[in-house]
Amino acid sequence: MSHSRGEITTFVMPHMQNVLGDLFGGDLMALVDQAAAVAAMRHAGGPAVTKSIDRLDFHQAIPVGALVSCCATVDFVGRSSMDITVQVYSEQIATGARVHTHTAHVVFVAIDRDRKPCRVPRLVAETAEERARYDAAAERRRARGR
Ligand SMILES: CC(C)(COP(=O)(O)OP(=O)(O)OC[C@H]1O[C@@H](n2cnc3c(N)ncnc32)[C@H](O)[C@@H]1OP(=O)(O)O)[C@@H](O)C(=O)NCCC(=O)NCCS
Repeated sequence: MSHSRGEITTFVMPHMQNVLGDLFGGDLMALVDQAAAVAAMRHAGGPAVTKSIDRLDFHQAIPVGALVSCCATVDFVGRSSMDITVQVYSEQIATGARVHTHTAHVVFVAIDRDRKPCRVPRLVAETAEERARYDAAAERRRARGR
C-alpha cells in the first residue's frame, strides 16, 4: 500500500478563487481527481479512469495564496476497481500552519488498450494504519453494495 500513493501540491492562485476569495470547489475537485489518478495509475501500473466520486466533505475553506496538498492512497481493490481516499491539507507558508480541510472517497477503474476494465494487482496492508484504511474502505464498499 505504501507504493500506491499520489500527492499534488500547488499554490491557490487568484484564477482558482470563488466570490469569497477562497479556493473554488470545482478546482478543488480537479486537484482531488488528479491526486487520486496518480495513486490509481501507480497501483495499476497503467491507465485508470474515475468511475465514481463516493463522497467529498468540505471541512474548511482554503484562502487564495495558501498551499493546497492533496494526498491520495489506494485503500482497497477489487478486480479492476480501486477505492481511493484523498486527504486535503492547507498550509500557510509564513507560519507553517497546516490544516486538514477536505476528505474525499473516490473509485477508479484500471483500463486496458480497448478501454475495458482490467485486473489490478492485489493490495497488501503491512502496517496497522494501512490495515485500518483497508478495513474502512471495505466497510464503505459493503455500504454501497459493490
Ligand atoms: C470505467 C469504465 C471503463 C468501466 O466500465 P463498466 O462497463 O462500467 O465496468 P464494470 O461494470 O465491469 O465495472 C468495473 C468495476 O467498477 C466497479 N463499479 C462500477 N460502477 C461503480 C460505481 N458506480 N461505484 C463504484 N464502483 C463501480 C465494478 O464493481 C467493477 O469492479 P471490479 O472489477 O473491481 O469488480 C466505463 O464506465 C467508463 O469508461 N467510464 C467513463 C470513465 C471516465 O470518462 N472518467 C472520467 C475521465 S478519467
